[in-house]
Amino acid sequence: MQIARSMAEIRSATAQARQNATSSDAESLALVPTMGALHAGHLELVRAAKATGAKVVTSIFVNPLQFGANEDLSRYPRDEAGDLAKLQAAGCDVAWLPGVDVMYPPGDATLISVGGPSAGFEGAARPGHFTGVATVVAKLFGQTGAGAAFFGAKDWQQVQVIRRMVEDLCLPVAINVVPTMREASGLAMSSRNRFLSDEERVVAPALYATLNDAAIRLRAGDKAADVLAQAEAALRARGFVPDYVSLVEARSLQPIAVLGAENRLLAAARLGSVRLLDNIEV
Ligand code: PAF
Repeated sequence: MQIARSMAEIRSATAQARQNATSSDAESLALVPTMGALHAGHLELVRAAKATGAKVVTSIFVNPLQFGANEDLSRYPRDEAGDLAKLQAAGCDVAWLPGVDVMYPPGDATLISVGGPSAGFEGAARPGHFTGVATVVAKLFGQTGAGAAFFGAKDWQQVQVIRRMVEDLCLPVAINVVPTMREASGLAMSSRNRFLSDEERVVAPALYATLNDAAIRLRAGDKAADVLAQAEAALRARGFVPDYVSLVEARSLQPIAVLGAENRLLAAARLGSVRLLDNIEV
């Protein structure tokens, strides 16, 4: 596995990866963007990218632009040596580790602001977050020249924001969405789960269970407003502080009251100091 830290190194590593690819299609180079602290969910993205036959670049960059002033960037877990060992074992071809000065060099003055699916939910809870995500992902696409990118469904709103950006800016990158990896308890894998106490770990899977109960009732035809209010109440009863439990159209993220062709249940809830996100298809 090649490790690139400068623009010159990533250009050379991706050119070499392309040469070694079995096909000359744009999608023969795939990007897995991450912020490190890799877990089985990230490695599943690498596996899914490799399964397409592509050479895989995984980026590790804790992006300051997507953290709000009240969010602790310094608390974000970092484990470069451990991450590189996991990527090597997973068969990743190139690890892209730009520093902040490479990602945002002096004079950097361009931001990407996506409307539509960025409104509400995480966009409301974390002002500026999706501008940071869209800007860094567009830069990663440009830096690597990947023709395909792999994202986890766990950050469903993020995926819709990136899809919208790719479509609106006519970026030549195929967006692939990989189902959420879960622990045996049902808890969605996340780098932030490491901050849960032992007691909170026992409670945390109730978020996914609550979404599944709500989905069953929605499919049975129960009124969405009642189902969502009762899901929030159930979470509160287990010790969560819910931020939202919402039924939305899956791509636009517009709230809906009646099931349509593609629907998603989204939830965010705080458990102790950890904000947990989850979502399922309905
Ligand atoms: O999902 C993440 O880890 C980040 O938001 C991403 C897509 C790597 C951009 O920094």
